Amino acid sequence: MQLTTILTTALLSSVSLAGTFKTLSKSKPNPALTWHVANFNTHCTAGDCTYNFHIAGQGTQNTPGFNTTCTGTTGKKEYQPCSDEQISAIVDPAKSSQWDVEVQHTWIKGEAQFWAIGSANATAPSKWFNITVDEQYGVA
Ligand SMILES: *[C@@H]1O[C@H](CO)[C@@H](O)[C@H](O)[C@H]1NC(C)=O
Ligand SMILES: *[C@@H]1O[C@H](CO)[C@@H](O)[C@H](O)[C@H]1NC(C)=O
Ligand SMILES: *[C@@H]1O[C@H](CO)[C@@H](O)[C@H](O)[C@H]1NC(C)=O
Repeated sequence: MQLTTILTTALLSSVSLAGTFKTLSKSKPNPALTWHVANFNTHCTAGDCTYNFHIAGQGTQNTPGFNTTCTGTTGKKEYQPCSDEQISAIVDPAKSSQWDVEVQHTWIKGEAQFWAIGSANATAPSKWFNITVDEQYGVA
């Protein structure tokens, strides 16, 4: 699918960013995206926790693939970059000894910037689980 087609589809729910000529659009990823997480681990000492996991996403005609490792401190407000800086993550403590794992993938295509966001609840350690991408945004 061409970029113009994506944007036309996505523009159905568009808003203008104040003070710029750019348009933000939101859409469901098409085709659907599933990211595969492996070896999710957390480690806590004296109330401070760190996380690490491996994550891979297969490329589609609209989305570049990736395969990288994420490490960081849990409970951060901002996305923390993974080894491949196009991928970033926030890991928060959640209910029932689960972790809320949020992952963002950003990329540039032509003049447009895109980002896709997905999340999952995970127990640690977890050998593997999937993250379904809920939302994709573009700015052009
Ligand atoms: C990701 O990279 C690791 C090691 O570099 C490899 O073992 C694994 O098969 C790769 N996964 C995908 C989905 O390409
Ligand atoms: C994670 O758990 C919370 C609370 O139980 C739930 O609201 C949320 O939908 C779950 N998220 C996912 C991606 O399953
Ligand atoms: C994760 O995704 C893979 C490939 O799409 C699938 O084979 C596997 O069953 C999925 N696992 C879960 C727990 O949904």
